[in-house]
Amino acid sequence: MTAHKPYLLQLTKLPILVEETQTRLNRHYRVLLADTPEALKTALKQHGAEIELVVTSAMTPTPASLIEQLPALKAICSVGVGYDSIDIQAAKKQSVVVSNTPDVLNDCVADMAFGLILATMRGIGSAERYVRRGAWTDRLAGLPLGSRVSGKKLGIVGLGRIGTEIAQRASGFRMPVRYHNRRQRDDVNYPYEASLQQLAQWADILVIATVGGAQTHQLINHTILQALGPEGVIVNIARGSVIDQDALITALETGQIAGAGLDVYVNEPHVPERLKQLENVVLLPHIASATHETREDMLRLMLDNVESFAQHGRLITPVND
Ligand code: 8YV
Repeated sequence: MTAHKPYLLQLTKLPILVEETQTRLNRHYRVLLADTPEALKTALKQHGAEIELVVTSAMTPTPASLIEQLPALKAICSVGVGYDSIDIQAAKKQSVVVSNTPDVLNDCVADMAFGLILATMRGIGSAERYVRRGAWTDRLAGLPLGSRVSGKKLGIVGLGRIGTEIAQRASGFRMPVRYHNRRQRDDVNYPYEASLQQLAQWADILVIATVGGAQTHQLINHTILQALGPEGVIVNIARGSVIDQDALITALETGQIAGAGLDVYVNEPHVPERLKQLENVVLLPHIASATHETREDMLRLMLDNVESFAQHGRLITPVND
């Protein structure tokens, strides 16, 4: 009699590579799709005690209250590099290992950081709307002038895998780079600023590339925004929680800073109306990793983690909290 496959709880739809995903997950597990509250309630009622692996994502809450209902849980495999949506401490308490999908999205997220730098400094969004609404009626009419990107000083908050890719791209624009981390790195040549405030004072453009979660909550506050100054621009491709969003909006409304390029927000997908009213802001819907290539690589790396755990009891890219 063949041994029963263990149960896998899938907390989110996986809308690409559907056939490959189903084949690879079903090879080792009995998959319970629980992407709605009702489906989750049913899955927990019927098989909660037998679920050994959870598939989730950086955008899908995986709280302690759920982990604690899964006494047989051994591993959580997430699509995405950020894992602030997963209660890592609760997982650790139950000896549950967790994997994310680092590195495969570095290029596209770093590319988007520069997309936001250029769009914000040069007013690309505002200009595109100007043409699209038919406002360009006089060839010599001019929109407000933008600001040059090449040669400007780039401050990176969080020089990790993605932050390093952003720094490397800066050389193409002849931009001097400095960074702020919790600790100075000994494997890079970029100047380190131990003080975030001093980095903000030095930088023309401040890019946020940190992890999310409690350790970086509102790291960028009124004081840092004031230090960045009235010609300064901030770009966030990390997590909305890293910036005090109310302080940011006030700084943008009152000219304390010149502009912002945002891919992430505090309470996604809800973007404050006050932000939407501003012309000195570029607003994107958390799409920095959203390319065919990167999203397929992220999904496949998650599947590789699931298969590695099923076959060998080990994850390929465990989070190192
Ligand atoms: C999401 C992200 O993963 O990887 C992260 O941490 O924020 C994004 O790339 C993506 O939205 C898929 O959930």
